[in-house]
Amino acid sequence: MITVLNHPLITHKITQMRRTTTRTKDFRENLDEIAGLMAYEITRDLKLEPVTIETPVETCETYELNRDIVLVPILRAGLGMVNGILDLIPTAKVGHIGVYRDEETLMPHEYFAKFPENLGEAEVMVLDPMLATGGSADAAIEMVKKRGAKSIKLVCLVGAPEGVEVIKEKHPDVDIFLAALDSHLNDKGYIVPGLGDAGDRIFGTK
Ligand code: PRP
Ligand code: URA
Repeated sequence: MITVLNHPLITHKITQMRRTTTRTKDFRENLDEIAGLMAYEITRDLKLEPVTIETPVETCETYELNRDIVLVPILRAGLGMVNGILDLIPTAKVGHIGVYRDEETLMPHEYFAKFPENLGEAEVMVLDPMLATGGSADAAIEMVKKRGAKSIKLVCLVGAPEGVEVIKEKHPDVDIFLAALDSHLNDKGYIVPGLGDAGDRIFGTK
């Protein structure tokens, strides 16, 4: 399943991120805010369990979340989405996956992985602003699946149709959430129109 979140606030904020003139501080803040707005939609189907509690007035049959939520940002750029989602789900745990793509071959290279325990019982959300060829997201999803993850969502800001197809084909069990589905990839593997190199723009490294 793929969901593109067409909300005016999200579209407005992505427009600010796309502008060449937007500097690191505003780029980062907009990413943080969009991730927070996306969190409502991506948590829509979280499972609740019935509980009986005491309010100051009487006993109440109600519901609460019953599973761990694990955010897994793909380093580096995925880090820019973590705080916006943690604002909404402060009890979420955070794993990290280090993957960079070779600028010549566009192939993903893994360099780091650290996860909380019991990924198999958790709702896992893999975070990366950019879904281009899909190589990095595919590698990250394979890594969490190897550690037992069964319920996985891929949450990206901007996706290219090429990357979406790769994930749909290799991981039909993973739900994809995007804030924008762009036109295509250029010959350097950049998303068009896209927003450039997300990691560099978040961390001011270029
Ligand atoms: C970017 C981006 C994704 C990946 C997308 O990371 O954040 O992880 O490229 O491209 P793909 O879908 O073709 O794999 P990059 O490799 O530039 O690393 P960085 O986040 O450290 O800058
Ligand atoms: N990675 C980025 O940061 N931007 C793109 O357009 C493609 C891959």
